[in-house]
This record gives sequence, C-alpha cells and structure tokens, in this order.
Amino acid sequence: MPISVQQHQFHLQTDHTSYLFHVMENGELGQLYYGQRIHDQPDYPDLTAREEHGAIPAWRLDRPDFQPETLKQEYASLGKGDYRDPAFQVTSPDGSRISEFRYQDYQIADGKQRLNGLPSTFATADDVQTLTVTLRDAVAQLTLALQYTVFPHQDVIVRSARFTNAGEQTLLLDRAMSSQLDLPDANYELMQFSGSWARERHLVCSPLHSGSQSIGSLRGASSHQQNPAMFLARPTTDEDHGAAFGFNLIYSGNFLDQVEVDAFDTARILIGINPEEFGWQLTPGETFQTPEAVLSYTTAGLNQLSQQMGEFYQHHLVNPHFAQTPRPVLINNWEGTYFNFDEAKLTAIASDAKDLGIEMFVLDDGWFGHRDDDTTSLGDWDVYAQKLPNGIAHLANKIHAMALKFGLWFEPEMISIDSDLYRAHPEWTVRTPHREMTPGRNQFVIDMANPEVVDYLYGKISRLIADAHLDYIKWDMNRNITEAYSPTLPAEQQMEFAHRYMLGVYQLYGRLTAAYPNVLFESCASGGGRFDLGMMAYAPQAWTSDDTDAVERLKIQFGTSYGYPQTMMGAHVSAVPNDQTGRITPIETRAAVAYFGDLGYELDVTKCSAIEKAAIKEQVAFYKAHRELFQQGKFYRLDSPFTGDGNVGSWQVVSADGKHAIAARYQVLNHPNPAYNRLYLRGLQPDQRYKIAGNDHVYYGDELMNAGVFIPHLQDSTEGIEESFDFSARLLVIDAVEK
Ligand code: GLA
Repeated sequence: MPISVQQHQFHLQTDHTSYLFHVMENGELGQLYYGQRIHDQPDYPDLTAREEHGAIPAWRLDRPDFQPETLKQEYASLGKGDYRDPAFQVTSPDGSRISEFRYQDYQIADGKQRLNGLPSTFATADDVQTLTVTLRDAVAQLTLALQYTVFPHQDVIVRSARFTNAGEQTLLLDRAMSSQLDLPDANYELMQFSGSWARERHLVCSPLHSGSQSIGSLRGASSHQQNPAMFLARPTTDEDHGAAFGFNLIYSGNFLDQVEVDAFDTARILIGINPEEFGWQLTPGETFQTPEAVLSYTTAGLNQLSQQMGEFYQHHLVNPHFAQTPRPVLINNWEGTYFNFDEAKLTAIASDAKDLGIEMFVLDDGWFGHRDDDTTSLGDWDVYAQKLPNGIAHLANKIHAMALKFGLWFEPEMISIDSDLYRAHPEWTVRTPHREMTPGRNQFVIDMANPEVVDYLYGKISRLIADAHLDYIKWDMNRNITEAYSPTLPAEQQMEFAHRYMLGVYQLYGRLTAAYPNVLFESCASGGGRFDLGMMAYAPQAWTSDDTDAVERLKIQFGTSYGYPQTMMGAHVSAVPNDQTGRITPIETRAAVAYFGDLGYELDVTKCSAIEKAAIKEQVAFYKAHRELFQQGKFYRLDSPFTGDGNVGSWQVVSADGKHAIAARYQVLNHPNPAYNRLYLRGLQPDQRYKIAGNDHVYYGDELMNAGVFIPHLQDSTEGIEESFDFSARLLVIDAVEK
C-alpha cells in the first residue's frame, strides 16, 4: 500500500519515491526524507539524529538538543525558535502570533476527493490513497488538517492544508502555504520559467545559495512574468539522467514559490498563495482550504520528470471528458481580421478553412457591444448588430452547416467604462474608494468576488452557449488587477479579495463546465499570462503566447514543456511578416513548430496564395494523420534553444508503445560550412527496427538513440540561391518496421 504508518511515522511510497515524516517529541511534525524509494522501517535513526548547535534557542531547558531551527519540519510556524520563513501564520484576537500544532490523529482513505470550490486533482479508489493528519493548537483552538494524496505510478504526491476554527473567537490567517519541504542540503539548480508578454516561460537556471530565492506573482493572475512551475535539479542532472524535484501549484492567482537556504545548508521550499496581499478572517466554525501543491521526484532526468507530471495531469486533473479526446484543428480570425470583420468575411474564411481540412472556426474579439477597438464594450456580451446583424446563433448555424465546429471568444472578467454594464453597475468594478482606477489595455477588472457578478456572467455566457450551440470558448483575461478591493467585502475582509476573486473565477468556470460538459475551453491571458494548473482543471487547452513567430515559439514551447504537457499548448500558424516580430519564416517551419501542440491557424486564409493553401491542406492532413502522437505522445526535449547561441532546438514525440515517433530539429540562422550535426533520438525500443520516412535505411532503435541521425547542412549548391535557408525545420517521421 502506498501509505504505511509506524509509531507516528508516516511513509508515503510511490513506485520510485519515498516521502517520510514523523511526529517529533514536541508533538509537531518533522520532515524526514523525500527522494528515491527506500525500504519501510519502523524507524530511521540516521534521519532523526541531531547535534546541538551553539547560540540558538532550544525547545525546553532539559532538551538543549531539540532546536527548532536545526530541524527539518513538515509545516512550520514562526516564533518558537525556527527563524526560517514559516508555512503559515495566525494572529489571535490578543495580537499574539504563536502557534503550536500538536499531532492529534490521522486517517487513510482510498481514492481522492476533489476540493470544494477550488480546482483540484481527483482519483478513484484504485491504488491511490489519501492521508489526512490532524493537528491542533489548544490555545487558539485551531485545527490543522494536512492532506497528502499518493499517486504511485506517476511518482506524484499532492498536498494541501485546511485550517478550521474550533474556538469562539475570530482568528486571522495571515499566511497559509500549500506545501513545505525541508531538504537536507542545498546543492541544487533552481529552474524557473520566466518572461513577459509574448516571451513566456523561458528557462532560467540559478544555483541555490544562502538566503531566499523566490518566484511569485502579485498581479491577481499567475502571470507572464513568472510561472508556478519550479524544478530543483542536481547540478549534474540533464534531460536524460539525474535527480530532480518538480513542484507546481493548482492555482491561477497570486502565488509564491520560495526556496530558503539556511546556515546549515538545508533548503526550505514553500509553495502556495502569496502571503503578501493575503489574509483571511477565520470566524468560529469556519474552514480555510489552501490550493493543492504537486510534488514529484525522479532520478531519471528532466524529460522523465516532465513526462510523469504531465501524465499525472492528464489522468488526475484535466477534465476526463477531454483528456484523451483529439483536439480539433482550428482557425481563429484574430490575427486575420482583428476587429474588422462582418458575417460575409467570417463565413468566407470558414469556408476556405473547411476546404483545407480545418475542423473548427473560432470568432475572436469584436463580436459584441459596439466593439471596433479595445476601448469599449467589455461586459456587454450581446452581439454587435451592425457587424453581425443576423446574430451569433445565425452565424454559428452557417458554420455548423459547413460541418465545422464553432467557437467564441469572451473576456468575462473585464469591463469597459464605455459599456452598458458599467453604466448600469459601476459598483461591479474592482476599485479602491476615493482613488483613481488604473487602466490596463483601456479596460478595468470586474469584481469576481461578488456573487452577483458571477451570476450575471453565467447567465450571459450560458445563453450564448445554448443559443449558438458553441463547441468551444476562448476565455481571455487581458490585464492584471490594480486597486485590489471589493465594494462588497467589509474592511476587515479586504485582504481576502485576491483569493475570493479567484474563487469567483473558478466558480464560473465550474458552473459552465458542469452545465456544458461538451464545450472545450481554452484559457488565455494576453497569450500565456495565466498558463497554470488551476486553469488546466477547467480549460484543457491554453493559448500559449500571443507571439506566433516560429522562432520565438521555439523557446516559448520548449520552456513551457518542462511544466506542462503539449496537449495544453495552443499553437497556431500565422501570416508573415509576423505581427509580433516582423520576421518572415517559411510556412513549413511555422507548421513544424505548431504541430507539437494543439494545431491551429490564425490568418485570413482567403488571402493565401494557391501555393500556401496547398501547403496548409497538406499540413492539416499530416497533422490529423499523426494527431494522437502530436497531442498525446511522450514529449522529449532533445536540443535546448536555451543553451549556446540558441541557434538550434529540437524535440520529439513518441507513441506509448515506442513504435512511432516524430522528431523536429529547428535551425534559426543558416551558417556556412557548419559542424557535423547529429540528432540523437529518445524513447525508442533499442532492439526494434525503424525506418525514417524518405530514407531507405533500416535502423535499430539503439542506433537512432546512441549513434544518432546525420543532419546534412542546408546548401550544397554553387548555383544561384533562390531563397533563404534561415529559419529551417526538419521533421523526421519514424515508424517501426514490422518483421
Ligand atoms: C489577447 C489574446 C489574443 C486575442 C486578443 C483579442 O491578446 O491573447 O489571442 O484574443 O486578446 O483582443
């Protein structure tokens, strides 16, 4: 069984990992070990061994060896001699901030229940177990339940904390992290995924060092700038070998991932809601549940870590209705028309797209209110009659009659000053009394902490889903929160706003996905500004970035692939010169990058030449033929565009049985007389024979993986050159040869 309990020692075992903690002498919980699986024992004297250190407080006069600062703790408080940043903090009515959570009891249950009101993981009773350890602070009369679910086959543990006020007085929860992990040494590289709008999730690595290193967001969204996914890898770890921890948070709002290295070189990892801009009034009887943190570990390198975490999300987080369902090839009109369209224009695009094999038409921004640019109408989710006089349902019928699916863009969380909604309900806008509101993209944020707002949006969106039989919704969020404050909350609860806002977003998502389980949601926040596990629980796809340039997308998709499976990544082919960079890349390269995600097109296909249309038709057919491999295959990073001069990147997808694979190698600039290049494949069966399309040689899997495939350089002609060899992509389609 994945969880064993001996003498107040808890041992969580997955197929390859062990996670151990115990009840310490003072009744609080101590962390013992997280790493490669070890045998279960009644005790581990070497893990509990201590030495007395000078000049630091100890628990009691007769226990000078019990020094909280030197202990690995499981969910630590501040103020009793452990000076590292705590996992939580509670203020009592008398102003004191000391907590002593003593062990009470534990429970083990088969399976895993979803959390109420928060996006969360789920599992049936088959081989998944959940441990709940209950602790109590007798003075504050506060109960703490730490919950751990063990997913043995993906080597994942999911953690959260729940505080319940069992007393008579209101307590203030100032900080409530989802997970704490104290590691015995700090010899790790911190891998984070950072960037900005149009440059999301670039890999940044730095060694841990004394003091705190953190990534986080206070924007009201997980953000373009930092992402809750974080890895800690041994310095020698690479894609194929070595030990690494993966962490993530199932949450889309303000977050903090922090690693603190102390004087004894232990590393404390805290993951959770950012304590800045957070506070919660815990009234008598009330419970506060933190979001869930995901922890994973491997000794088999970073590709393995990404794969096991990705597989875990596919089975235990993504809406099961869509987890294994092929995602449609779509065309989105945004970069094709921006705000400038009418029914004739849209149906012409849809009709051409249909001829090219595309399966869904998505109408983006500009169909509602009187929206001709980004200054008006957000909140008025009724058709813009001048642009589309026959209405959305009529357009949807026409699209459906072409045997295309139909999708629609919304930005539910926003409001324009120039909107009927704002005129009717100015009090629904997020603002601080007596202060100017700070605009962002000419718009303001609607108060999702207000249940009336959630009801209004549910009414508007559900009516359109029903009337137009929507197959898909792109849910955008194009600015971050400023002047965070809800007019509906009393003063003492304003620190709850950021989290209550997220709970409102999740409630709307939850209601819509429950009522319309067949509607595919794609989340978006000016591209990838809210690309996280909280969104993934409701929206199986996310728009990866507003940057559709093939060269830029290499780094964006490569960086994203560490923390998220490729099925989550919306990836579109757009027109050139590219709207974000001005770069002109071949349409083959644009497609070769977009194949490794949920393929779409984002251009006015009616303006494409016959040659371009033929290329698109071929691409769509090729993608559909290999769709399962592209969307669900095991994803391997081969050559990183984040190393060296970044001129080359490559990756590969492999089928579950190892018999089919597609690899791609991208080269940004073509250099003359280059080095001798090989591409080393991964994930094949060593003894299996394979052929690469367009090549007669029969290879063994071990040859392809260890000896590699020769990549000839581009340009062998001394005649005139007709076109640039820059921005090239080579695709290798590899299939097992059956005997
Ligand atoms: C954001 C999205 C784009 C598009 C526009 C519409 O920028 O990321 O894909 O939907 O909004 O305004």
